[in-house]
Amino acid sequence: MAAWRQFNMTTYDGSVEKVSAAVSPVIAVDRKAPRPMHKQIYDGYREAIVRGNLRSGQQIPSTRALAVELGISRIPVLDAYAQLLAEGYFESRAGAGTFVSSSLPEQPVSHSGNASEVRTGTRPASRRSTVVPRRESEPWVYGTGAFSVGQLAFDHFPFQTWTRLLTRHCRKVHAGSLNYGDPMGSKDFRETIAAYLRTARAVHCDARQIMVVSGSQQALDLCARTMLDPGAPVWIEDPGYMLLRSALNLAGCDLVPVPVDGEGLNVAAGIRLCRQAKAAWVTPSHQYPLGVTMSASRRFQLLEWARGAGAWIIEDDYDSEYRYESMPIASLQGLDSDSRVIYIGTFSKTLFPSLRLGYMVIPADLVDRFAAVRRVIDVCPPQLYQAVLADFMREGHYARHIRKMRMLYSERRSALVEAIRSEFGSRLEVTGGAAGMHLAVMLPDGLNDVEIAARAARQNLWLWPLSPAYLGDNPRQGFILGFGSTTAAEMPRAVKRMRSVIA
Ligand SMILES: Cc1ncc(COP(=O)(O)O)c(C=O)c1O
Repeated sequence: MAAWRQFNMTTYDGSVEKVSAAVSPVIAVDRKAPRPMHKQIYDGYREAIVRGNLRSGQQIPSTRALAVELGISRIPVLDAYAQLLAEGYFESRAGAGTFVSSSLPEQPVSHSGNASEVRTGTRPASRRSTVVPRRESEPWVYGTGAFSVGQLAFDHFPFQTWTRLLTRHCRKVHAGSLNYGDPMGSKDFRETIAAYLRTARAVHCDARQIMVVSGSQQALDLCARTMLDPGAPVWIEDPGYMLLRSALNLAGCDLVPVPVDGEGLNVAAGIRLCRQAKAAWVTPSHQYPLGVTMSASRRFQLLEWARGAGAWIIEDDYDSEYRYESMPIASLQGLDSDSRVIYIGTFSKTLFPSLRLGYMVIPADLVDRFAAVRRVIDVCPPQLYQAVLADFMREGHYARHIRKMRMLYSERRSALVEAIRSEFGSRLEVTGGAAGMHLAVMLPDGLNDVEIAARAARQNLWLWPLSPAYLGDNPRQGFILGFGSTTAAEMPRAVKRMRSVIA
């Protein structure tokens, strides 16, 4: 049962008043109506309880508070409350207030059906919204455990440091931190991000170009809204990231799937398919999902094509901090001399995804445009976590955490590759294990990845099938295997289980 409390509020004259924390229900009182006011209040409460809008145990505002809110005298409110108490809809608790009676069922059966039941005829959603697949019901999207994609080693997160910084900022909440902020994000945090990106990712930027976003997904969406008109042809990697596909579909873009090979997006194939595309969306550091790194020659080809076609390049650099066999690869944005690349990054992989913080680097002349669009969507990012993370980065905890996790994930990745070799020999081709927290394996001909994944999910093994990540013909069958949340010691057993499911 929900606990509904009271709290003390200091009034303007400095006295302390007990204020009911109970929210007033929607009760309309019409002074001119023939029905007496106490009856209107009584009916309003009774109806709210019967419909389930007010639930058992929920606190009711005091008679005084309700009278003030309705702008009427307290007498009809007292009469209505007395009646509701007498009939058992309300109960009063000494010193605590008035509550919806706890002896009523938690969710009374409403005379008009339950709240989630659809009672009317057709009420169509927008056609645009129907181009996005329904919330995925495939079990591997939500499963957690061996091989689930996007899972991190959460147990290695520096909880103590994080909590200390969070507490520091919670303790010093001040009036300025309560107001609306800059749609680009807080200045302090943006300066910290810009310094990090210049150093660690060779991104050309200053703080004015950084927009703090709620994860890279918001940045992908913002780019589509700000830079592209409905019907604009855009290159996407094939196979590629499903949520990008959805964001572009929602924006009404015309998707041109461009094949990915061992060197990343095949630029020549893109030019053959649609030379005049308005943008190309790429994951050059660690292609999602195949994991390949875009070669230097492809990077230059892509920049050259974009210059010639007057197109944008959106660089989604979602997990490049974790690179195992070489130093992190410098960003594509750093090679661009024509302000054509929008760079996107996220804290979802380096810290944790529920943080919902990421950033984008916007060419200086487009900053105002992006800021204007962002204001329409969610005004500005929340301030608290920006302040916490700025300290976390400035005090060196971020760099330390990345170094530590790089070693841990490297161990897990090697254990996975080794276990695949020992269980499957050369029958499973492994690609893309040089960075990030996932790699891909290709199945031999004749096997169906979606069927195997469904079978595996019934045994709590989360094999994410590769073929749905393709838009074009002849998708390859295989799996995207996350290794972030499985320890090196557990890996051989997990791979044995995978072999038994595939067999
Ligand atoms: C290609 C790609 N981009 C971006 C993201 C991260 O999204 P977000 O920052 O919104 O959590 C992911 C997450 O898995 C991804 O695979």
